[in-house]
Amino acid sequence: MPISGPALAALSSLTPAQISFLQSIPKAELHAHLNGSIPIQILQELASEYLSSTSARSIPDSAVQESIQLLTTGPALDKIDDFFLLFPAIYALTSTPDALQRVTRAVLHDFFDGDYPQCTYLELRTTPRSTSSMDREQYLLTVLDEVEKYSPEQTGLVVSLDRRMSAEVMDECVEIAVRLRSRGRRVLGVDLCGDPTAGNVQAFEDAFRRAKEGGLGVTMHIAETTNNTPEETLQLLSYCPERLGHATFLNDEAISIVLEKKMCIEICLTSNLLCKTVPTLEAHHIKQYLNSNHPISICTDDTLPFRTSLLAEYALLLAIPPLGLGLSEDQVRRIGEMSLQARFR
Ligand code: IMP
Ligand code: ZN
Repeated sequence: MPISGPALAALSSLTPAQISFLQSIPKAELHAHLNGSIPIQILQELASEYLSSTSARSIPDSAVQESIQLLTTGPALDKIDDFFLLFPAIYALTSTPDALQRVTRAVLHDFFDGDYPQCTYLELRTTPRSTSSMDREQYLLTVLDEVEKYSPEQTGLVVSLDRRMSAEVMDECVEIAVRLRSRGRRVLGVDLCGDPTAGNVQAFEDAFRRAKEGGLGVTMHIAETTNNTPEETLQLLSYCPERLGHATFLNDEAISIVLEKKMCIEICLTSNLLCKTVPTLEAHHIKQYLNSNHPISICTDDTLPFRTSLLAEYALLLAIPPLGLGLSEDQVRRIGEMSLQARFR
């Protein structure tokens, strides 16, 4: 996967010994979206097959070409909304069981089977989609078949619930997730994701309660933008997630709940910088958690549009400011350990 921007700058500033150190420490990737982590070569292959086929189109070919072009060069994101515009084209290319199987295999290969494994353990997350050639259950089974080719000590699946889903669809996704888990399939948890301003979070209460009753871990993208109100954040926290994605704009009341309940924060440094929800590394909320020794986990979010890797995200911890946070090797090793402790079982 090509790396650029702040991730590349941090990685390039390290010595070979520091890079070896980062490669060697045990660490978990707990926040990686399947369709945001597809190696660009696979997506280009899928795009050329799609454009030369006569299959039904969900979006114009020009939109697919434009998005693949942007993803190839590295999209310029002015704001977080620009990021969500990239997904309709990716979804057009991953809407059959065959394509989904190929991208899942490629993403797992990218994390585990390159020159060195990017992580010790990966929780891959994805949103079950119903398309003209598969329903939501088939979607999850296709992904699980690939995930389960690796050992349970290496990887498992988190089912993402999109804020744009109706309560009925969300309930259906949770019902499938719980049923597959009860049959021994490797579904570990649920996530709340999608356009941070969409949906009414009060309608999601039932879905998260059922997920917990079914033994699933719960993580949520929360307080990702300034448009997320304190009331909404407190409502989501009342569903007792074990982990939180981003958690960028928490007020004092929310922070005290997060600290008290020791909810692990999934930190995605490059994602936050490129989506401009955090202005600089210096201003990043990771600092307050480091100061209070609160559980965090360093994650990539979406390696494709953000042109990063887990190693490069760890490089942002170790690199000297302003390229990185200038943490010591002991601190970075400890962060890796914390990420492994926060995995869902
Ligand atoms: P998928 O769930 O495998 O289809 O991965 C892509 C989806 O993840 C996108 O359509 C978004 O809904 C979601 N996603 C990826 N990154 C973010 C994020 O930073 N915030 C909220 N949702 C995200
Ligand atoms: Zn995310």
